[in-house]
Amino acid sequence: MAQVQAVILVGGEGTRLRPLTYGTPKPMIPIAGVPFLARTMERLHEAGIDDVILAAGYMPLAISEYFGDGASFGMHVTYAIEETPLGTAGALKNVEEYITGPFFVFNGDVLTSLDLRAMLDVHRKKGGAGTLHLIQVADPSAFGCVAHDDDGRISAFIEKPAPGTAPCNDINAGTYLLEREVLDAIPAGRPVSIERETFPQCIAGGKRLYAHVTNDYWIDLGRPENYLAAHRDVLAGVMPLLVEPGITGSGAAELRDKRSIVEPVHLDAGTSIDPTATVGPNVVLGRSCWVGAGAVVRDSVLWDDVRVGPHAAVDEAILASGVRIGTGATIGAGSVVGHGYVVPDGVQVPPGSRLSDR
Ligand code: GDD
Ligand code: MG
Repeated sequence: MAQVQAVILVGGEGTRLRPLTYGTPKPMIPIAGVPFLARTMERLHEAGIDDVILAAGYMPLAISEYFGDGASFGMHVTYAIEETPLGTAGALKNVEEYITGPFFVFNGDVLTSLDLRAMLDVHRKKGGAGTLHLIQVADPSAFGCVAHDDDGRISAFIEKPAPGTAPCNDINAGTYLLEREVLDAIPAGRPVSIERETFPQCIAGGKRLYAHVTNDYWIDLGRPENYLAAHRDVLAGVMPLLVEPGITGSGAAELRDKRSIVEPVHLDAGTSIDPTATVGPNVVLGRSCWVGAGAVVRDSVLWDDVRVGPHAAVDEAILASGVRIGTGATIGAGSVVGHGYVVPDGVQVPPGSRLSDR
């Protein structure tokens, strides 16, 4: 599949994930210890796609410093940095000069087990201008709703339909396989949305777009609750990413005392957990985390160098790198705590809080 290139859209500001995205762009947010984009890259490499263009804009250095020219991933990575966001289609027009043939496009925040080779086969068989990966959801209002006939030909693309108005339950899952001719339909020099402008115009202009509906694992990581749900699924093995569920990660071997662990958990290296603490289920601890005596951490993702003080409680929360939770403090469910934030001893953080120093 070497001749098929890939463009990954990673220019969004990740507003719904603030304050995490103040310090880390969305594609670099870790999934069980590894930047999400690195996991996407691995998936592409496995599928034989090695020529990748990253359409970035927000905090691009955090991305390019990690991936460089892609050689250490066995890939060739080109960067296109937008000074102002060009939108999901404008970003593609902006990289037109690099595109030599049919190409995949990936929303940079989707975790899925989609088989890319199978999608390429479908695209070649159908022979349209583009093939869109779709999945079915109960409520399409937060997504692009895509109507198609029995042969898969797409007849309408309605981005974020008002609740109750969507004509069907198939939604745009954020992976496209497009022919170069789709780029001709995108005006240059201004922001363009592929969902709101380009796809509807292609359909109206008679270009054939086809649906590739699958029931693969699929989640958009762009909201805190989804980020936690994705980790639950990864830890449970529902999304096949870790070797096998249980206690995974390089910190597992360092664990001298398993009394504190309620599986499944994922522990990175250098982590220290007091035997009287409770960690799990569904917990990810990044590198060099510390959990004190009697502390309880459940259904949460902690990035690197997070300290949870003695008798503190963390429930359904996301704690960015360097966060300190004071002795006896409690973090209410659904809270998101930004880089380096310090929660003082004994403080009760209400559910759903967003805490940061900004
Ligand atoms: N380069 C670049 N420039 N990338 C962008 C820009 C831009 O101006 N705007 C957004 N992106 C990237 C984001 O970083 C993300 O990876 C992707 O495009 C999609 O943007 P989101 O902001 O995450 O969109 P969404 O989740 O609300 O909706 C999109 O994804 C849904 C599936 O998850 C749409 O494509 C929907 O139709 C779709 O159902
Ligand atoms: Mg998204």
